[in-house]
Amino acid sequence: MLNHRLKIKALLADERTGYETTVMGWVRTFRNNQFIALNDGSTNNNLQVVVNQGLLDETQLKRITPGASLKVTGEVVESLGKGQKVELKAKALEIFGDCDGEKYPLQLKNRPSLEYLREIAHLRFRTNTFGAVFRVRHSLAFAIHQFFNEKGFVYLHTPVITASDAEGAGEMFRVTTLPFDKPPRNEDGSIDFKEDFFGKSTNLTVSGQLEGELGAMAFSEIYTFGPTFRAENSNTTRHLAEFWMIEPEMAFHDIEDNMNLAEEFIKYIIRYAMEHNREDLEFLAQRLADEEKSLPQDKRSELGLIEKLEFVVNNAFERITYTEAVNILRESPAYKKKKFQYDVTWGIDLQSEHERYLVEKHFKKPVIVTGYPAAIKAFYMRMNDDGKTVAAMDILAPGIGEIVGGSQREERLERLEARMKEMHIPVEDMSWYLDTRRFGTVPHAGFGLGFERMVQFVTGMTNIRDVIPFARTPKNCEF
Ligand code: 4AD
Ligand code: MG
Repeated sequence: MLNHRLKIKALLADERTGYETTVMGWVRTFRNNQFIALNDGSTNNNLQVVVNQGLLDETQLKRITPGASLKVTGEVVESLGKGQKVELKAKALEIFGDCDGEKYPLQLKNRPSLEYLREIAHLRFRTNTFGAVFRVRHSLAFAIHQFFNEKGFVYLHTPVITASDAEGAGEMFRVTTLPFDKPPRNEDGSIDFKEDFFGKSTNLTVSGQLEGELGAMAFSEIYTFGPTFRAENSNTTRHLAEFWMIEPEMAFHDIEDNMNLAEEFIKYIIRYAMEHNREDLEFLAQRLADEEKSLPQDKRSELGLIEKLEFVVNNAFERITYTEAVNILRESPAYKKKKFQYDVTWGIDLQSEHERYLVEKHFKKPVIVTGYPAAIKAFYMRMNDDGKTVAAMDILAPGIGEIVGGSQREERLERLEARMKEMHIPVEDMSWYLDTRRFGTVPHAGFGLGFERMVQFVTGMTNIRDVIPFARTPKNCEF
């Protein structure tokens, strides 16, 4: 058996001394031919391994370079050096793998930029920043399951390949096995998808919601948590072509219940990360503060990362209607001074500059906007009594913009059918969806949280490419 070892996080947390143990990890630095800073990914805090003279010969010492992997057995002793309470006095040291210092990209003396680390995303997990980011990402994922499990929601695995467009926005990646140079054609020249693998036109899912609704009509409350795909050509710091989404769907919930759940949920998972990833968040807070030092005063965050998270979990989100949002924007100094690139009139889709004005300048807290014009929202949203707006809700977060999109669903069959026809949604292909409205329909609601945007919010990382292990964006699919 090889893996009989203590993880460095556990070793450092337990301040006992005078016992023998084994650790394994990668060298971060090696000073004075004596002090190894060893890291195994369990924490950003390295273990100081002390190699006394005589333990290793000259050739062995030369092989202890940054990136090399080691197994060290020794005695845990009190550390006289600064920065750690205990250290490991090596008795036996084995090198698993050498690492050529000339070629190892993380050997660089200067701190590598986030852009450069994106190009070597296969190695960036070994840096402090990405170690912290991906441990926080893990905790948030775990907290999400815990939250819904505690509430009795069923985790439903919705399909990745579908034949429908859940959002009706046409931003889909096609899935096909047809030869693209000579696809079979119908008489009118169009492609004959009956010949395709599934006998119809299929795509990667943009959302698990529609299938989620089917589950909610039996289990009452379900959630999905999986990858979703959007072929939107948006090269921004908030868009990925492949991102993870959490979509709870609840029978017997209206739009207000939906908002309450979403707010409780977001606060719960942030609190979980604050309790379980304190060190990582403190590291990330410092990183953000350092990064912002180069920005002009008015571009810096008013609150540090931890203060921001504390503020969010301890204060109620602002709730306003779309119409109120439009009025606030039109009366804002920014609008009057023509600072917005896009005009604001009732009926527009709020642009990211408008969302950011509302949360960052006006309310200075997360904002839930409800009652959007039907014309700019998806077909499944429930029509309000005014006949103009739908029971939609978007949650806007400081620094991110839209983090959640959700709604109460149109549960009335005739209205839903009419709306689908109006929006050219193929009603015949979706009779399975309409069956839920035929057989015991109930008021229901749900929402989707963009997982990476949530991770951005909690870690303070400005670019969404830095919170997913391997980002898929337009013209980029490395690793
Ligand atoms: O607002 P969206 O499009 O809503 C839905 O997909 C609904 N079916 C959700 C539901 O009601 N069950 O997407 C939901 C969230 C957005 O608020 C955003 O956080 C995230 O998903 N999102 C993206 N994240 C990263 N990259 C993209 N391209 C994203 N598109 C949406
Ligand atoms: Mg949306």
